[in-house]
Amino acid sequence: MPGTSSAPTVVITGASAGIGAAAVRRFARGGYRVALAARRRERLEALASELRAGGAEALVVPTDVTDWSQVHTLAQTVLERWGYVDVLINNAGLGRLARLDDLDPQADVAFQIQVNLTGAIWVAQAFLPAMRARRRGVIINVSSVAGWVGLPLYTVYAATKFGLRGFTESLRREVLREGIHVVGFYPGPVATEFGQHAFKRASDRPRAASWPGVALSADAVAEALWDLAHHPRRGVVQPWWMAPLVWLNAHVPWLGDWLLNRVMLRSAKAPKARDPNAEERSP
Ligand SMILES: NC(=O)c1ccc[n+]([C@@H]2O[C@H](COP(=O)([O-])OP(=O)(O)OC[C@H]3O[C@@H](n4cnc5c(N)ncnc54)[C@H](OP(=O)(O)O)[C@@H]3O)[C@@H](O)[C@H]2O)c1
Repeated sequence: MPGTSSAPTVVITGASAGIGAAAVRRFARGGYRVALAARRRERLEALASELRAGGAEALVVPTDVTDWSQVHTLAQTVLERWGYVDVLINNAGLGRLARLDDLDPQADVAFQIQVNLTGAIWVAQAFLPAMRARRRGVIINVSSVAGWVGLPLYTVYAATKFGLRGFTESLRREVLREGIHVVGFYPGPVATEFGQHAFKRASDRPRAASWPGVALSADAVAEALWDLAHHPRRGVVQPWWMAPLVWLNAHVPWLGDWLLNRVMLRSAKAPKARDPNAEERSP
């Protein structure tokens, strides 16, 4: 039977680390009941214990967003416990960043699309009927500045984040008159574990990634998510000064080509890469 508390509820995917964990803390502090979803149960439990010790209500639902049955169970568990969801933050994601011919077709390409794009779509699908029934709710899809600007080494990652932007805009227009807000969120670099495991070759990590003041803190991003949940807009680029760069990229694309090739690639020449057809060719 759904609980009787009237406190608002939020579901956050990718809650075990980085932006998701910071958002979990922000919403708990703001009086929300928080559902935590990600694959690593121990991390979710540790975070939930911290919240409960502070008096908040936390529900841990270990979920791999690439598995529809787990996504379905997530929605079922949350709705059985609380009866409704006010805010969904579709945040689970990862990067597999390398030159295209260095990406494994399954482990890097297909998997990245499955987590960042299909996963987010499935989670939205799972919670949408409950929001529709109440004629209210906010869905925030965490895309990236790479959802507006294509970057060397980010080919597939950018494809997922551009895709998520298209999904966000389309769904927003689909449910516009049903009381549901669908919001795109487009952060620039954020200091989380993401950057530690995203680059397949450490030597590919662009120097710009460690320029002081470039990376946002996860807490600053969580604050923006909090603000978006309460003042939903079509989309927000964070930090604000990246918005003119997005504009510039769209209107002066040759400048983006020239600049981003030089900033992102240490060498114009690709190192010897893996050949995705090699296994089929070898005897
Ligand atoms: N950091 C940046 O510079 C940056 C910039 C722009 C956008 N973003 C986006 O922000 C989001 C959060 O990234 P972050 O920086 O916080 O990275 P992070 O610290 O690496 O956290 C990623 C989260 O996603 C979860 N996750 C990964 N695969 C999953 C799966 N199959 N099912 C469920 N959860 C999964 C991870 O949990 P488990 O491993 O426990 O499953 C983890 O909680 C991502 O969508 C990312 O693309 C990040």
